[in-house]
Amino acid sequence: MSAENYSKERWATRIGLVLAMAGNAVGLGNFLRFPVQAAQNGGGTFMIPYFISFLLLGIPLMWIEWGIGRYGGTFGHSSAPGMFQALAGPRKKWAKYLGALGLVIPMIVFTYYTYVVSWMLAMSFFSLTGSFFGLGEVDAMRSYLASYQNIADSSYIGGGVTIAFFLFTFCFIAWILSRGVSGGIEKLALYGMPILFLFAFLLMARVLTLPAAAATPAEGLNFIWNPDWGALGNARVWLAAAGQMFFTLSVGMGTIHCYASYLRKKDDVALTGLSTAATNEFAEVVLGGTIAIPAAVVFFGVAGATAIAQGGSYDLGIVAMGVVFQKLPGPQILGQLAAFLWFFLLFIAGATSSVAQASPTIAFLQDEFGWRRKRAAATVAAIGFGLAIFHVLYFRMGVLDEWDYWAGTFGLVVFAAVEIVLFSYIFGINAGWDQLHEGADIRIPGIFKPIMKWVTPAFLAILLGWWGVTEAWPALLMENVTDPATVPYRWVSRLLMLGLTVACLWMIHTAWKRQPQSPTDEGSST
Ligand code: ALA
Repeated sequence: MSAENYSKERWATRIGLVLAMAGNAVGLGNFLRFPVQAAQNGGGTFMIPYFISFLLLGIPLMWIEWGIGRYGGTFGHSSAPGMFQALAGPRKKWAKYLGALGLVIPMIVFTYYTYVVSWMLAMSFFSLTGSFFGLGEVDAMRSYLASYQNIADSSYIGGGVTIAFFLFTFCFIAWILSRGVSGGIEKLALYGMPILFLFAFLLMARVLTLPAAAATPAEGLNFIWNPDWGALGNARVWLAAAGQMFFTLSVGMGTIHCYASYLRKKDDVALTGLSTAATNEFAEVVLGGTIAIPAAVVFFGVAGATAIAQGGSYDLGIVAMGVVFQKLPGPQILGQLAAFLWFFLLFIAGATSSVAQASPTIAFLQDEFGWRRKRAAATVAAIGFGLAIFHVLYFRMGVLDEWDYWAGTFGLVVFAAVEIVLFSYIFGINAGWDQLHEGADIRIPGIFKPIMKWVTPAFLAILLGWWGVTEAWPALLMENVTDPATVPYRWVSRLLMLGLTVACLWMIHTAWKRQPQSPTDEGSST
């Protein structure tokens, strides 16, 4: 069955596709996670393994995912199970089960990520009302955020407010998703991404023109752009950089595949894929790197900013920035406006990624069970919402960290390892290379062929081994858990993830039993 006669949703315009793909990648990872990772790992020192990871992991995997996605789409599959089956061919019936990773990982990330996105909406609102203005110290701002995150603690904000923003955000995301690919996701990106970039440029200009306080903006930039080559021997920095690369580009998540499946068979993936990856890096390194880190360095100095970043993922982007906006020169209203620009930018960045994370499961229900878009979107949003209640209730028990680690960090590398073996070895690198060049607007430099066949898989194997021994195994045994009271909750959160995985495997099994002669089983896309 060919792409042209298989009735599917499509992107309406190329610019819409580019912005939606960029929206998928540009997210909280660029503006919250990246500054913290960079600051925790020595600023400029982090940037060397970061760029090496971009070249050897990010770019090849991104092309492979675009290629797999478009190829799977020609068989009528917009999620990993059908795509993997199409790649492996009809005889290797096990391949579709590996695709469960491409449902369960984005679904888990969607659940907790959308909850964090709802904080950004709340913080934009609090910026306009000025409710945290007056808490001009890092510790006070930390308590403010904690009181929002832990609904049982109402020292600053009542739990009802957290729940209201959480509900509203999920309804908004569900509404966008229910409107479909071109009518919902593409429109959100067409309006949201230009606003995001505009806000980011305004904030960047403000940060770069700040008068010196504890340091100058130039010292902030120097911190992130001055590498310490000697620190390259530090394994932790490499793991952090590779992990950031996966998260920020959304590779190993199943979302790029899903969006690429809405392309036509002859639509370019080589240049468009590269452009969206470049857009993400611009947003992360240039915009993300020029706002939170230099701003924090100006007011807290390099040592102060680094110390704040050690507090965790939200400490630079929310806590430190919350204080920075209160310290800006000029009337308070200008600080409030700048805070609004920052947090609303984060909300848009998060929302455009959030819709991407829900998309593979929605597409799976549509393609493999024949559900209509609205029903599939409502079901996936309701499941995500139901699971997210667990995070709302038990955030302080570290359940979000568990999910973020196993699905949003380790899981991405596992998924990437599976897909690259399927692409480069089972499908075959020659067929894969030809596939990437179907309708391509550029030729991918030939060096990437051996990279996709040897270097990226070897890099992934080393990462998995290294990571497995140094981090994942101790994490599995909860050796680093400081509060023993959180252990039972962490176990429940793991059981939930396991339950979701079993449910996905069962759905895949049922779907293929229902339709033994699915387009994939016919073995050809033309
Ligand atoms: N790529 C998305 C982000 O950076 C998930 O937040």
